[in-house]
Amino acid sequence: MKCRVCRLPAVIDVRRHNANFCAEHFLRYCRQQVERAISAFDMLSEGERALVAVSGGKDSLAIWDLLVEAGFEADGLYVGLGIGEYSDRSADHARAFAEARGLRLLEIDLRDDHGYDVPTAAVATKRVPCSACGLSKRHVFDRAAIDGGYDALVTGHNLDDEAAVLYGNVLRWQTDYLARQRPVLPAEQGFPRKIKPLVRLSERETAAYCVLQGIDYLVEECPMAVGNKHLLYKDALNDMEQKSPGSKAEFYFGFLARAVDRFDNPDSGRSVLGACHRCGSPAESDLCAFCRLAERSSRADPVPVEFVLPKARHRRRRGERSPSAEAGPPTATVSPQSNGPAT
Ligand code: AMP
Ligand code: FES
Ligand code: ZN
Ligand code: ZN
Repeated sequence: MKCRVCRLPAVIDVRRHNANFCAEHFLRYCRQQVERAISAFDMLSEGERALVAVSGGKDSLAIWDLLVEAGFEADGLYVGLGIGEYSDRSADHARAFAEARGLRLLEIDLRDDHGYDVPTAAVATKRVPCSACGLSKRHVFDRAAIDGGYDALVTGHNLDDEAAVLYGNVLRWQTDYLARQRPVLPAEQGFPRKIKPLVRLSERETAAYCVLQGIDYLVEECPMAVGNKHLLYKDALNDMEQKSPGSKAEFYFGFLARAVDRFDNPDSGRSVLGACHRCGSPAESDLCAFCRLAERSSRADPVPVEFVLPKARHRRRRGERSPSAEAGPPTATVSPQSNGPAT
């Protein structure tokens, strides 16, 4: 196996591009894919400030590294979700990365700053943990980006994540979600611009990028996500990708090029009537959805994470996702443990 560029021994194959790369040219390929995404979708311009939401996993640390290397001013934001030891370890990885590079990491802790954590919110509001978590993260990300005057909020969603979300939205024909499934959402009515510069890289590639760059990321998956639908969709797409390399990218980029505009609906914009009385965020009633969740959850007794772990965890131990070309290690030379979710 030889590098497509220099013909030296390759360390990784990228089957959807029918290419193999040595370490140096694989890193260059990753940088080019991010640059292409940023310019093709007008994500970020020179001199703009970005806030990168970092969980300590491979994707968010990779994109923070790539943006800083590309010369952007990018700070990190870590949100403590209170998911037991998993959260403690995520914080350690995010902090170690920032410290080693002299980067600024903002930290917001749901328990310390808002009086609740994800397991407690899940029980108090009878939501599944991932839903309470998603709502909390989105709000905290938005507020921090607006309050800090950042030009864009960056997340580490990669091609696998976006294709899996698209797959789920198509299965249920969730047309409002389809209309908003773009790698850039412009700033509007108190919400920051949101960008996903990793959409041209798969999670196997971001993991390989971290290994080659010496980035120590958290391999472990969120214990609450085990067995959820998003991982099911990823497995299904991975099976297809293995048999037909490139399917995932065709599915997602074909949707962006030929379908997403068809779901635009002028009446389906955010019908924001005013500002939340408590936090000032855009809200449809007196309180925004986050403040309603925070109010109920902070009144409840703290719930330990073990109480809300999905039953699937007992059937399937960590690392036992179904085998597939995309989720497995790239080669014997570079073997990132890349089975984790979007991080
Ligand atoms: P997920 O919601 O776990 O699929 O993660 C999607 C993206 O959200 C990640 O790539 C990160 O950019 C961001 N993210 C997830 N968890 C956190 C966290 N605890 N703190 C900050 N950002 C996070
Ligand atoms: Fe949000 Fe697991 S439920 S990271
Ligand atoms: Zn090479
Ligand atoms: Zn509010």
